[in-house]
Amino acid sequence: MTRFDPGGPLRGRLAPPPDKSISHRAALFGAMSDEPVTIDGYLRSGDTLATLDAVQALGAGVDADGERVVVRGVGLRGAQAATGGLVGVRNAGTLMRILPGWLAGQPGGEWTLDGDESVRRRPVDRVVEPLRRMGAQVEAREGRLPPLTVRGGSLTGADHQLPVASAQVKSCLLIAGMLAEGETTVREPAPSRDHTERLLRRARVPFDLEGGALRVRAVDELELGDVSVPGDPSSAAFAAAAAWLVPRSRIVLGDLCLNWTRTGFFRIARRMGAVVVGDLEEAPDGGDADGAMDEPVGELDIAACPLEGTAVEPDEVPLAIDELPLVALLGCFAEGQTVVRGAGELRHKESDRIAGVVEGLRGLGASIEATADGFVATGGGIEGGVLQARGDHRLAMLGAVAGLASRTGVEVMGMEAAAVSYPGFEADLHALASGRGRSGT
Ligand code: S3P
Repeated sequence: MTRFDPGGPLRGRLAPPPDKSISHRAALFGAMSDEPVTIDGYLRSGDTLATLDAVQALGAGVDADGERVVVRGVGLRGAQAATGGLVGVRNAGTLMRILPGWLAGQPGGEWTLDGDESVRRRPVDRVVEPLRRMGAQVEAREGRLPPLTVRGGSLTGADHQLPVASAQVKSCLLIAGMLAEGETTVREPAPSRDHTERLLRRARVPFDLEGGALRVRAVDELELGDVSVPGDPSSAAFAAAAAWLVPRSRIVLGDLCLNWTRTGFFRIARRMGAVVVGDLEEAPDGGDADGAMDEPVGELDIAACPLEGTAVEPDEVPLAIDELPLVALLGCFAEGQTVVRGAGELRHKESDRIAGVVEGLRGLGASIEATADGFVATGGGIEGGVLQARGDHRLAMLGAVAGLASRTGVEVMGMEAAAVSYPGFEADLHALASGRGRSGT
């Protein structure tokens, strides 16, 4: 058990760890390249180290020197047989869902992707069904759960309309599209994070976006060049929430990925009255970042302030999906009600995050109710107590922030889960809380 007590204001500067989503993709695109790819600022966390292990199991070379990683790829059609045919993903749902898109288009190979208990409970039919429409041979346990077996073969382009916006599913299908005959189209009901699209453009893959339809065609070779990974806004969001809630706090989040598909949480918080100074891009026309390849990077200045309740609508959900637990926490301190709708996807994350957040915060004395696809929180603050992380990194970090903002402190059961995305979380939070926020790069 790890205890987080209320204390003085948070002060200082934080350079959050490198972005998890971009790190996964950079390693996979590096593995699919013919030329070595240097990744500067690779996230060294449980999930992204699983991706480095997976690409090595598929034949890629990996040289790591701290956060600088060189991936010597096997080429787009060169994935090799893994020992025993098994590729382990540990807790990484993103790897579990994106990797089959590559493997499905490798004639002659067969792989089984498996992970920990949490990954085994998370549905994969969302990639199995559309991949099969492209001619892929993919089998899941009971048709919908890992382990997932992929028998590589030839693929044919298809037109996919995703029922739920998901960057993982979209990425899987766009990667399969690079290996398929003809054109592959992916349409989402609302925009989700676009890091894969940016890497496709960077790697000079025939790819375009028109009226919300993403279109990709086959390519022989990726020309990726080197990749630099900015700080993760989903990790930085925990320090931001603590700074908004602990009176007199003021922090600067530096070297942060400010891609608008990732900063929905900061826009929601701003609407609640939160002080956040910095360039929070608004959605470009049609939801497309206008053919951009590079991730926008910048800093945000965050200061404590009173908050007001808000309503988060379904089309905002994919842009703040991993930060919705923090919206719940802010809602517990905001005047009036905070309502989140259309977030049923939260039930399929590392844990059922609607249950985990609502039961967790209620256990600390908060006023919050679950709905089928979200929650309703009412201001009044948090007393304190014990919060179970349920093996979910974002619930563990939520509990820590709740502790700093609570009246009597919070014990988090299972704090070690934070290492899945943010191994230095406790040290960074304590440094800010003691006014010693480490200076960023
Ligand atoms: C991710 C996409 C999101 C997010 C996950 C990372 C990604 O999942 O929750 O943490 O890197 O593509 P969905 O796209 O399935 O919502």
